[in-house]
Amino acid sequence: MSEKGRVKEYEGYLDSNYKPNRDDLVCEYFLEPAKGITLESAAQRIASESSIGTWTDIGTLPKRMFDELSPRVFFVDKKNSIVRIAYSKKLFEPNNISQILSSVAGNIFGMSDVKNLKLLDIDFPESFVDKYMGPHYGIDGVRKLMKVKYRPFVGTIVKPKLGLDEKKHAQVAYEAWKGGCDYVKDDENLTSMSFNNFYKRINVTLRAREKAERETGERKAYLPNVTAPYDEMLRRARHVVRMGGEFVMVDVLTVGFSGIQALRDHDLNVVYHGHRAMHGAFTRNPHHGISMLVIAKLCRLIGIDQLHVGGVVGKMYEGKEEVTAVGEEIEQQVVSKDIFRHRLQQDWCDLKPILAVCSGGLHPGKVQPLIHAMGRDIIIQAGGGIHGHPRGTLAGAMAMRQAVDAEMEAKSPIEYAKTHSELREALQKWHGMNFYERHHESLRKGGKR
Ligand code: 3PG
Ligand code: MG
Repeated sequence: MSEKGRVKEYEGYLDSNYKPNRDDLVCEYFLEPAKGITLESAAQRIASESSIGTWTDIGTLPKRMFDELSPRVFFVDKKNSIVRIAYSKKLFEPNNISQILSSVAGNIFGMSDVKNLKLLDIDFPESFVDKYMGPHYGIDGVRKLMKVKYRPFVGTIVKPKLGLDEKKHAQVAYEAWKGGCDYVKDDENLTSMSFNNFYKRINVTLRAREKAERETGERKAYLPNVTAPYDEMLRRARHVVRMGGEFVMVDVLTVGFSGIQALRDHDLNVVYHGHRAMHGAFTRNPHHGISMLVIAKLCRLIGIDQLHVGGVVGKMYEGKEEVTAVGEEIEQQVVSKDIFRHRLQQDWCDLKPILAVCSGGLHPGKVQPLIHAMGRDIIIQAGGGIHGHPRGTLAGAMAMRQAVDAEMEAKSPIEYAKTHSELREALQKWHGMNFYERHHESLRKGGKR
């Protein structure tokens, strides 16, 4: 603030000696300034526009409030174009995700002073974390509900995404459960269609689930996609509960955080499965947007129990390091800084951990590397990799479960496939005949697999 008691436009926020305190909300950004602007100057413009300032100096803010609210650019790494800004908690309404994003992920993305800007991480103060409900079930709660103690879960998405009527949908779901899937979910764009009504689909699919449970003796979950305008979404979620469902799926980003928060506040006692459709619009560009890590943290605050994080070895673009970093963030109680690149510390207090859903281009041949990368607290979810099996959905689900069993018994999938024809056919299809034959041959000769 200038001596005359005016907020200087975009200056006065640099303070390399500042040490963030426990109540600060800290953001880390990748920042590439526009031509002719230094990194320090651009960082201050970001700090200012995301909090109390604007493009020109103004005289409406009392000095006392400026001192209380002023953000601080306390870290500038020119080599990697990284800056960190500490914001006073008073700048935010703690349990209002929309307001927080309107500040630290709002106007600043469109500023002409900035060429590229990516919000990489947010460290929420404990006093904020305490204000959120977090997941109702979390990893342990879901394991208890599903009576699956140790192994990763196996799930599928009814495919095709759109096009099946209610009866056919339920039939495909039944075959998947019968073959060994724990979970069957609707796809992200299946809601209530002219050819597949939500309410009818729920009724027949939940009946198919009961049949599969009776026949297999295992718990089975159906994850209906309740994504819709808010009132209808709530009505659909309530209908699922009334019909005996214990899970609902929501598209967290297309619905929006406020809608999901409001749904969670109803405490319907269901497991919330979060699909991240549209995330690539924010996350894909390494230099501009919002990281998946930030989206995952917001999901943990608002109470998603299981969240899509990527396939690590599947069809999605993101790298192993990024997906595993997200996986770790949603599972730990305290995340210490500098474990992974661009990572701030986070204390999750009493908020339960989220179960990571690995999805996108997975098939039985990818199960082993996936578990090695992500651990066993995951849902391995495959659409094409189950329904695309040469002998259809039932055999596809069996193959997937066999791949998981092989890993749990510390056997290679190739070895396991010798006595499990469904797995063998899946490996032959997706790894190619040559792959299977080559490994089979080397196994026979006692060679390395
Ligand atoms: C999902 O919603 O998780 C995707 O539809 C995965 O489909 P895929 O396994 O066929 O890639
Ligand atoms: Mg999908």
